[in-house]
Amino acid sequence: MILNELKSHFRSPETPGSIFLSFEGIEGSGKTTQIKEIEKYVMERGYRTLTLREPGGTVFGEKLREAILESTEPLHPLAECHLFLASRAQLLKEKILPFLLVPKSVVILDRYIDSTLAYQGKARKLGYETILDLHKFNPLNLLPHRTYFLDISLETSMERQAARGSKKDYFESEKHEFYLHLIDGYREVATLFPERILKINANVKPDDLSANILKDLEQFL
Ligand SMILES: Nc1ncnc2c1ncn2[C@@H]1O[C@H](COP(=O)(O)OP(=O)(O)OP(=O)(O)O)[C@@H](O)[C@H]1O
Ligand SMILES: [Mg+2]
Repeated sequence: MILNELKSHFRSPETPGSIFLSFEGIEGSGKTTQIKEIEKYVMERGYRTLTLREPGGTVFGEKLREAILESTEPLHPLAECHLFLASRAQLLKEKILPFLLVPKSVVILDRYIDSTLAYQGKARKLGYETILDLHKFNPLNLLPHRTYFLDISLETSMERQAARGSKKDYFESEKHEFYLHLIDGYREVATLFPERILKINANVKPDDLSANILKDLEQFL
């Protein structure tokens, strides 16, 4: 099967003592909230941490982030996709790969490849094969040891976004149907990488969510 062949190009870091994590999920799923808790926890356990957001995290990447998220015209899905990949390649080179060489380090990504699979692969209809194919070369073929997919319903996402009340960006202005595809996409992607991605019900209180994540994270520490 084509997907299995594509998956064979990917690897996780083999740097003993360092851990590579990513958090995924739609807007308002609680990624940033949980990452803060996890950072605190692993630092107390003597790890150094580096948290990065996608797209962005480098000077070049932040410019691309602005170009994408503040775009007032609809971008071609391939244009969108390549901007994310350019940001990601630069982030790997400048930040992720060097930090993984530091002993007892944890790199935490606030969105990574699975967002591209769900947004551009599913919701923008480029297909998972296309997205994986574009990532199969070094350094883009580096996958986290563990990905926490915070799964919430569309209703919960909308409620939390409304409560936050900030100006809607490029993706947040999308219609409900786009979000439904996105949620489906994340769920499908979780089944494509069942060893790496842990899907967690995130329609729960922040403390309960952290407890679930930490219970799983223990095996990597
Ligand atoms: N488990 C939770 N229960 C209720 N509210 C939550 C929970 N987690 C986060 N929130 C609230 O929901 C909002 C979104 O949370 P957060 O910023 O962590 O989500 P996010 O996944 O990082 O979103 P985005 O993709 O837009 O950055 C915040 O106002 C936060 O306080
Ligand atoms: Mg966030």
